[in-house]
Amino acid sequence: MIRIEHLNKTYKTVQALKDVNLEVKQGELFAFLGPNGAGKTTTIRILTGLTRLSSGRVSLNGFDVGNRSIESRRQCGLVPQSINLDRELSVFENLTIHGKLFRMDRQERNKRIDELLDYVEMSDRKETLVKNLSGGLKRRLMIARALLHSPSILFLDEPTVGLDAAIRRKIWALIRKIQQHGTTIFLTTHYIEEAEFLADRVAFLDKGSIVVVDTPEALMNQMGVWALDRLKEDDMETHYFNDRKEANDYIAAHKDSFTLRRVNLEDAFLALTGKKVK
Ligand SMILES: Nc1ncnc2c1ncn2[C@@H]1O[C@H](COP(=O)(O)OP(=O)(O)OP(=O)(O)O)[C@@H](O)[C@H]1O
Ligand SMILES: [Mg+2]
Repeated sequence: MIRIEHLNKTYKTVQALKDVNLEVKQGELFAFLGPNGAGKTTTIRILTGLTRLSSGRVSLNGFDVGNRSIESRRQCGLVPQSINLDRELSVFENLTIHGKLFRMDRQERNKRIDELLDYVEMSDRKETLVKNLSGGLKRRLMIARALLHSPSILFLDEPTVGLDAAIRRKIWALIRKIQQHGTTIFLTTHYIEEAEFLADRVAFLDKGSIVVVDTPEALMNQMGVWALDRLKEDDMETHYFNDRKEANDYIAAHKDSFTLRRVNLEDAFLALTGKKVK
């Protein structure tokens, strides 16, 4: 379980997080959604003990991240936003170094490495140098590495950034599989459809503050069921309807050309953050 209470973080002059409060239950898949600079990475870095908080309390499975950072670090695995594998070493060597950091003995380490490579479907790449792996395989290796010491909480910071649609779906399937094995997952993303597809609950973070926390379904239901997009000269205008007939009547009553579609999480996000006025 992840608990965040009255968390604030200031970097010199920038207040990156403002009174963030959040609880994520064991086994939950939680998505932290927000635009660039919202404070997503800062939150993950504080939760994983990489950055100090300015005020507030955070704990993982009851272990205070500030006071008992060794225990709290054992609770979690981290897949950072930027690739930080050792390019000149093999897949096996990268995993071995990580296992040594967590003081796993050789036998336990090698067994777990084989298990995880099988899990992320990379057994045939064990001896490949990281510099020869594709972007998608590097991400999968980073996920395997984060799971090596069997943490109960996995943090994924923008797990699919820069990957093509097919590879992204493969990573999504892997993330779901990890959750099904009982791991709590906290991921950040600015791909709204990623949160909509994967998350049990999402939080919208904007300029360091949580705007809303809810299930994707509840957030979308607030908007309606159908969305009607009308292309204006320099922008898009969207109207929302609960009933498909009402939407069709609206189209019939206006001469413009419209696109009718189901409401998605992006509609809720745009309405809540005020990034675009309906
Ligand atoms: N080490 C640092 N020193 C000073 N300011 C920082 C530092 N790290 C982050 N910031 C600032 O804190 C704010 C939040 O940054 P953060 O990286 O947490 O955002 P993010 O939501 O992860 O963004 P992105 O989607 O671009 O990854 C930004 O204004 C950023 O410029
Ligand atoms: Mg970030």
